[in-house]
Amino acid sequence: MAILDILVYPDPALREPAREVTEFGGKLKKLVSDMCETMYVSKGVGLAAPQVGVPLKLFVADWEGGKYVVINPEITETEGEERADEGCLSFPGIYEEVARPGRIRIRYLDEDGERHDEMVEGFLARVYSHETDHLNGKLFIDNLSPLKRSFIRKKMSKKARSD
Ligand code: NI
Repeated sequence: MAILDILVYPDPALREPAREVTEFGGKLKKLVSDMCETMYVSKGVGLAAPQVGVPLKLFVADWEGGKYVVINPEITETEGEERADEGCLSFPGIYEEVARPGRIRIRYLDEDGERHDEMVEGFLARVYSHETDHLNGKLFIDNLSPLKRSFIRKKMSKKARSD
């Protein structure tokens, strides 16, 4: 296993929509296990492939001892709204309250290419929604007020220059 480098905002690759995964084999499994390892080491609850510079529709999540691998996801229904603090491994040290659906229906493939169609709620629905956004080049700051967004943008750009 290998620890991958996580791209940090404002890296332009984070804004690119990802491609569908079409090959299920050893190479994909290696990527999944490297992404899981990277997520654990970074103490994240979710990590999307574009965050490690791989433009594929794939994310991993770790929640309450469960490991989730989600490929080519499509959120087909959303219900309700919940607000909670959220962070992102591409925005180290930044946490903001974000509104997300309380319950979602999601269709996806697992790492063996098996189809799933599930209702997910609570915190896991939040993670799935956040990570699915990454696959479309959307970031959690896009859900904040323009004022907060511009504050974070300035803070992160300043940080990028000083690193
Ligand atoms: Ni994120």
